[in-house]
Amino acid sequence: MEMTEKVPVAILGATGMVGQKFVELLIGHPWLEITFLGASERSSGKRYGDVVNWQMSTPLPREVANKIVKECQPSEGYKIAFSGLDSSVAGEIEHAFANAGIAIISNSKNHRMVPNVPLLIPEVNPDHLDLIKRQTYTNDGCIVTNPNCSVVGLAMALKPLSDMWTVKQVDVATMQALSGAGYPGVPSMEVIDNVIPYISDEENKVETEPKKILGALNNGSIDFLAMNIRAHCNRVSVIDGHTECVTVELEGNPTKDEIIESWRSYKSVPQELLLPSAPEHPIVYFDEDAYPQPRKHRNLGRGMTVSVGRLRQCTDGAWKFVVLSHNTVRGAAGGAILNAELLIKKGCI
Ligand SMILES: NC(=O)c1ccc[n+]([C@@H]2O[C@H](COP(=O)([O-])OP(=O)(O)OC[C@H]3O[C@@H](n4cnc5c(N)ncnc54)[C@H](OP(=O)(O)O)[C@@H]3O)[C@@H](O)[C@H]2O)c1
Repeated sequence: MEMTEKVPVAILGATGMVGQKFVELLIGHPWLEITFLGASERSSGKRYGDVVNWQMSTPLPREVANKIVKECQPSEGYKIAFSGLDSSVAGEIEHAFANAGIAIISNSKNHRMVPNVPLLIPEVNPDHLDLIKRQTYTNDGCIVTNPNCSVVGLAMALKPLSDMWTVKQVDVATMQALSGAGYPGVPSMEVIDNVIPYISDEENKVETEPKKILGALNNGSIDFLAMNIRAHCNRVSVIDGHTECVTVELEGNPTKDEIIESWRSYKSVPQELLLPSAPEHPIVYFDEDAYPQPRKHRNLGRGMTVSVGRLRQCTDGAWKFVVLSHNTVRGAAGGAILNAELLIKKGCI
């Protein structure tokens, strides 16, 4: 697709960890251009560069640093708003923007499980985008959501398996990065030299969201995939990249080679449509015994590739593997931008 003019977009929660990643990824984006930065009353009316505590490893772009942060109220000038808002305020603000005719693409938990809201991973369930036709916001406004950051890698690794075999049971233990807790996140005295075996409200999301994502669109609603998931969620002393140890029971007796091939050959709609943020390889499988690792592999495919490794069979026939994905890129801002690219390409905006 030849885009003659860039599509103006807003970032809500622009000062947070996810908001900063949006800024970093949208600078130089071939289709999208930042026109509005929204945050709380604390930041509004001030230069972005004066209020943001910039945590990205690339320099803060000057043209963004000079923009004035606004309160999160809908305004003219953009049809897409990315939300990296704190979930305590995201619900109402996102409704208001959708009601003003804006397509909200949200990273917050608030609307994810609402029946007519797509919980979208463009490689996994692009057809679920049709759910927005069931929404009743004025002037074509809509809400599309991203899954929880530890769900994205898990759902992507399960997708090729559920296409070919029946997934019965999934057990997962996560090792989640610090950036997943936002800024300032977990105090250093709590997490250095430590593992925290609890993340508030996380296990529930990991146990439910994949069933919707991997479910089938049927007459305008989603039939959840009938699999059982048991999750342990842990915070570890890693900056970016969620690692997960997964055990999966599959019906259909696949071989090890067949499972690995299902991951390595997986391509989907974003790759076919050549969406700008789509990685060439959505899933990479490593043969090396000690891979994947967050520090070495989180940035594969510009942070959009999911890394898998260590596939082995248990004595009871179940399969164990490790999956890694970048939580603020694939699990948040990058995934949301890919959603926007799909909406544009499908003519929803
Ligand atoms: N971090 C991740 O890896 C990740 C991944 C997936 C999803 N998420 C979700 O994405 C959302 C943002 O996460 P985060 O880690 O970026 O959090 P964060 O660093 O705490 O940022 C929160 C943002 O919300 C804004 N905000 C807070 N109260 C507000 C209000 N009353 N009105 C308007 N804006 C307000 C803050 O603005 P001020 O700076 O002005 O206070 C800030 O920009 C959360 O819902 C989180 O669960 C995070």
